[in-house]
Amino acid sequence: MTPAGEMPLGMLPFGETPFAACDDCGARRDAIGDVNAVPNHATCVACGGLLAIVPQRPGCTGRELADSLDTAAARAAGGVWRFGALVHPSRTPVSWPEGDTPLVTSPALSAFAGLDNLSLKHEGMNPTGSFKDRGMTVAITDAVARRARGSVRAVACASTGNTAASLAAYAARAGLPALVFVPAGNVASGKLAQATAYGARTLLVRADFDACLALAREASHSLGVYLANSVNPWRLEGQKTIAWELLAQRDWRAPDWIALPGGALGNTSAFGKALSEARALGLIDRVPRLLVVQAAGAAPFAAAFANGFRERVTVRAETVATAIRIGAPASWDRAVRAIRDTNGVVLAVDDAAILDAKAAVDAAGIGCEPASAASVAGVRAARARGLIAADDSVVAVLTGHLLKDPDTVMAYHAGGSARANAPIAIEPTIAAVDAILSSL
Ligand code: F0G
Repeated sequence: MTPAGEMPLGMLPFGETPFAACDDCGARRDAIGDVNAVPNHATCVACGGLLAIVPQRPGCTGRELADSLDTAAARAAGGVWRFGALVHPSRTPVSWPEGDTPLVTSPALSAFAGLDNLSLKHEGMNPTGSFKDRGMTVAITDAVARRARGSVRAVACASTGNTAASLAAYAARAGLPALVFVPAGNVASGKLAQATAYGARTLLVRADFDACLALAREASHSLGVYLANSVNPWRLEGQKTIAWELLAQRDWRAPDWIALPGGALGNTSAFGKALSEARALGLIDRVPRLLVVQAAGAAPFAAAFANGFRERVTVRAETVATAIRIGAPASWDRAVRAIRDTNGVVLAVDDAAILDAKAAVDAAGIGCEPASAASVAGVRAARARGLIAADDSVVAVLTGHLLKDPDTVMAYHAGGSARANAPIAIEPTIAAVDAILSSL
């Protein structure tokens, strides 16, 4: 284990106590005691910039820290809360628990991607079926503390579906009223069913995700609702643990690449922060490269990357991967920093490639939702372009569960694609079964 190296560009030092710092004006406030530190609208009260949490300095070496994360007590705390004060100092979190998701391999998927060894970090195995639970446990823990001080009427988010499902579940567990804003007609049925079933007031907004977010942000400024989108810095603190947990599962040996889908770019920002912090803490001795993958119809970040990030791009988004149907990513600047700090790459893959990769992930017995398959499609594309070598170690993050979007599955398998596997109606006879068996 090497000692902590030089702090990467843009990385803040650790604090004696956690504090919130503004990305834009640099204002700093005590993140726990001060109600204005992370207000309901989750942005800087001085200038409106995005806030980042600077966690408490652990005061030990990387080796000691890695060992302390491996104790029975740390493991018992659960995947997110195992990391303790590096995420949030609460000792009474609103937790399911979440995290502790598997890192799996599949020879079939390695072959599909053209790699010797592709690993998949399956975040669909979280309690509500997506990675959002990792950030939501932390944000709702913060919201409960704020509500005790009387400033929260309800918790709210704009969502393409998964954040809504997660918020609805955690709000229900905490006994908080919840409001979710989703784009009418563009949310996968599993996610809508979850938000409804968990009891959130689900608002089908006649607009796209970007307009939903603008509305939710306005409500958080004027109506006293606590905004739980990934502009909320506590969300990113929880989401950092995806990266940390996969590094721990690899015994803190960094892979060459980590691939993940990009939408609002909160997760990209969280991964950048997690990797910079892991390096600064001496947990890893080199930083993996991030491969952020967007759907071609919703790829403003990929377009800007191709242009050296000379300008901020917005598009009118359209893709079968509704989770990442986002044209104006909110966490833009910090995602740019994450790509620069990790020598990362941003790619776009078209819907056909996403559905093809999804069918491969599903047929491997692993399964994921369409947006998640963008990771695998992106790795395959990067390998085909020679960006990734066959013997590179690559972890692709599967962000959501197969059951999130059953309609896309059934539409794909009803069609004429090579992997189509439509259900077959039969008479209740043994001859009919035999005929099917003969065709296998
Ligand atoms: N994968 C899935 C399954 C998602 O649901 C999302 C985002 C992403 C990837 C992209 O993450 O936005 O941090 O870049 N879903 C949000 C939602 C927008 O509302 O559920 P990101």
